[in-house]
Amino acid sequence: MADRKLLEVMKGQNAFPPPVWMMRQAGRYLPEYREMRKRAGSFLDLCYNPDFAVEVTLQPIRRFGFDAAILFSDILVIPHALGRDLRFEEGVGPLMTPLDENDVSTLDSSHLHHRLSPVYETVRRVRKELPSETTLIGFCGAPWTVATYMIAGRGTPDQAPARLFGYKSPEAFAQLLDVIASCSADYLIRQIDAGADVVQIFDSWAGVLDEVSFERWCVRPVAEIVKRVRKKHPHVPIIGFPKGAGSLYADYRERTGVTALGLDWTVPMEAAQILQKAGPVQGNLDPMRLLAGGRALEEGVDAILAGLGGGPLIFNLGHGITPQTPIEHVERMVKKVREARQ
Ligand code: CP3
Repeated sequence: MADRKLLEVMKGQNAFPPPVWMMRQAGRYLPEYREMRKRAGSFLDLCYNPDFAVEVTLQPIRRFGFDAAILFSDILVIPHALGRDLRFEEGVGPLMTPLDENDVSTLDSSHLHHRLSPVYETVRRVRKELPSETTLIGFCGAPWTVATYMIAGRGTPDQAPARLFGYKSPEAFAQLLDVIASCSADYLIRQIDAGADVVQIFDSWAGVLDEVSFERWCVRPVAEIVKRVRKKHPHVPIIGFPKGAGSLYADYRERTGVTALGLDWTVPMEAAQILQKAGPVQGNLDPMRLLAGGRALEEGVDAILAGLGGGPLIFNLGHGITPQTPIEHVERMVKKVREARQ
């Protein structure tokens, strides 16, 4: 495993040019993904059928030679495995029956690993098929972000339903976060058992909370997951991505104990450099720069390499790639990162 560059960076070493991968690298911007998606039928069939999921995980590696593959699945398989209904509608996104206070005690984790066993099978098969130098990243959603979808039953612009639920029913909300955290920790442990080298915790909606709620609803449940995963797998690096955490990023690293911080594109360079002094960072090109291409892309990549290339850096976007992004722009980004000289 010594040849996996991303793992060297996770130990705090500086690798230049940095390892590179993209959040949502398996997805609709790839014609081969769209083809598979059509064959699978629904998005969930894609996630739960290892034949499809392995193939889709490997597609971006074959095309771009990224330094890391990320398991193809979704953060919402956890509530689904807990017995909540879930479907993905074209042009809308995930849809679930909104969860109310009385539903919390009905969440049933007794079938969790049985229902998620195709995901573990996918991890095992991907690890076997990946080149040895490619890192395999497993993942889960952070409890707060997963809860926002369970409560609203869909994506919302400001996560108001979940915030309101948290303030009006604090006990039920704490219980909900506990259940998700405990299942997510077990889920990550099983992914690591199956061959994941690194895991990432996606907290896409961390940026809408006040300081106290951020501590209570983002930091604490993620710290619990980190503690439980480390107990079983003390040396497996964990990337935390509290998107939009702004000035709370430093606190988040310190209090959750994650190995590396995923930075969104709004983090100013000077702040990113300070965060990097305490450990590895990942990011943080604005996905709209990648979509735009041309000067916007060149300038964005240059700024990250110049500002963060001197320390432990995993080059990535500041959030997922969007479906309209031209493949040539991705090729250009990878080439530019790989050919960079210090
Ligand atoms: O990164 C990867 O390539 C691995 C697979 C992955 C997916 N979702 C596949 C997916 C990962 C890591 C995720 C994480 C995820 N899922 C997050 C956190 C990261 C983020 O983007 O903020 C969230 C919030 C979700 C929930 C989710 N899944 C939403 C809101 C949507 C709809 C929006 C959209 O992009 O369509 C999904 C669907 C989804 N998950 C798709 C993919 C490739 C598109 C589904 C399709 O093919 O129709």
